[in-house]
Amino acid sequence: TGAFTYDPGFTSTASCESELTFIDGGEGILLHRGYSIEQLAEHSTFMEVAHLLLRGELPNQTEYENFTNTITRHTMLHDQLRGFYSGFRRDAHPMAIMCGVVGALSAFYHDSTDINDPQQRMIASHRLIAKMPTIAAMAYKYAVGQPFLYPDNRLSYTGNFLRMTFGVPAEDYEVDPVIEKAMDRIFILHADHEQNASTSTVRLAGSSGANPFACIAAGIACLWGPAHGGANEAALNMLHEIGHPDRIPEYIERAKDKNDPFRLMGFGHRVYKNYDPRASVMQKTVREVFAALKVNDPVFDVALQLEEMALNDPYFIEKKLFPNVDFYSGIILSAIGFPTSMFTALFALARTVGWVAQWNEMISDPGQRIGRPRQLYTGPKHREYVAIGDR
Ligand code: CMC
Repeated sequence: TGAFTYDPGFTSTASCESELTFIDGGEGILLHRGYSIEQLAEHSTFMEVAHLLLRGELPNQTEYENFTNTITRHTMLHDQLRGFYSGFRRDAHPMAIMCGVVGALSAFYHDSTDINDPQQRMIASHRLIAKMPTIAAMAYKYAVGQPFLYPDNRLSYTGNFLRMTFGVPAEDYEVDPVIEKAMDRIFILHADHEQNASTSTVRLAGSSGANPFACIAAGIACLWGPAHGGANEAALNMLHEIGHPDRIPEYIERAKDKNDPFRLMGFGHRVYKNYDPRASVMQKTVREVFAALKVNDPVFDVALQLEEMALNDPYFIEKKLFPNVDFYSGIILSAIGFPTSMFTALFALARTVGWVAQWNEMISDPGQRIGRPRQLYTGPKHREYVAIGDR
């Protein structure tokens, strides 16, 4: 009938109730089950945050060990899945591979796809969290033409991922604790962010009762876009393109020009109308990683000066545009050694925790119904069919 609220982009529609993540965009506050992102990033580990989001509480020591052991048990990928990689071109984007391989998991794990059984849901969730580093590391190895490495479950979640990615040969790879900590923190900062586009995609796909691995593949597809997770890749590419602080004003002017589609990547957010708290932690982490690696990428100076100039410009002030999580992350990832094409895959790896936690919350919600938005129809009214020769 057309009597629906028109809300393109869902700027004012709450699609669910959730206990997982609270954001106060005006104040720049982000909490996971009540704990601030700053405290989690400083003191916690990614596995603790995964436990918090998935199970509801930070784990005690025994719970932590049980949880990490459970995740560890699932890090291997079915051997047949190796064959999927060779089906891709070597220059395939890692996100294309992630979509394909994660979607394909749905054909492998039939013992964890009865979504009405909480235990099976948990096994599927553990599998996804555990296999994502293996899948992402293999995408990297495939691109650079090196042999795949099996997970080494004596290492931490993040240490294992770094080794599977950069180990050449694996036996000689020693995980640098500062890099491991920084990488783990980046994972924490990306773990969940309430009903963003990819999480809403996972919920919508899951609302029909679809296979959980297929739902996460849908989330990965959505995350890939440059307005969402793809912004970390786009932000670093932009900083390189600017190249020198002298050129910043030119790019600021372009971002303000409504006839130019260019936007400052890593800037602005649907919810934050203040500094994204994840961006502050990220900026601090850049300094730590640079100190540990004894490097100094000039692109960091470009980023700092770009931020300062934008934050003092009336356009950005008026529209409340601040750096977001993607503005500084690429600088760290690049210093660690990741090519830009891997950045969004790392985001997907970490966000899998949020996706599975949100998916579990949705399925166990007694009020859950299939997601089915309505529309305002603007097409023609009734028309008579005309034979093709008479049109
Ligand atoms: N540079 C220049 N102008 C901007 C920018 C930007 N980065 N972001 C927003 N604006 C302007 C926009 O042109 C609009 O102006 P006007 O009202 O005159 O038309 C106004 O600010 C509001 O923007 P919007 O596009 O209506 O806001 P939105 O909530 O729909 O979009 C956003 C949010 C994040 C997609 C957008 O800010 C953007 O494109 N940013 C760059 C991409 C980016 O960094 N994305 C990562 C987001 S955080 C991590 C994640 O979600 O994955």
